[in-house]
Amino acid sequence: MEKTFVMVKPDGVKRGLIGAIVARFENKGFTLVKGELMQLSREKAEVHYGHLRAKPFFGELVDFITSGPVFAMVLEGKDAIKNSRLLIGATNPSEAGAGTIRGDFALDVEANIVHGSDSAENAEIEIERFFGKG
Ligand code: TYD
Repeated sequence: MEKTFVMVKPDGVKRGLIGAIVARFENKGFTLVKGELMQLSREKAEVHYGHLRAKPFFGELVDFITSGPVFAMVLEGKDAIKNSRLLIGATNPSEAGAGTIRGDFALDVEANIVHGSDSAENAEIEIERFFGKG
């Protein structure tokens, strides 16, 4: 069993979609191991999106992700990273297929409702970033 880090972004929390999004993962067979509503600091957001620091949208992305609470989760399941990314869908909701979370719940690439770790290495780093060690 693999663990991954997923968060409902501020747009999803504001729209009251935490339950619907958690249900998508539970319906697929994932187990919710940890879940907490938290407010990201700018510092943490800048580290979390550090791989995008050079992009023109970086400032707006940090503004957005710190604009309200996120619902951070640890999910466990078979091939959790691969399967959660499939369920989440493409980064741009316009390219995400129907049946995926972004395909069904979002229109905008920035406000794309949910984040999921993209590798085992990043999952470990992100779980520790949001929930601490152990
Ligand atoms: P990225 O890590 O490339 O994608 P993913 O979230 O699917 O792993 O990008 C992180 C976030 O940056 C993405 O979820 C939304 C935002 N973003 C933009 O706002 N504009 C863009 O053009 C891209 C590529 C991403």
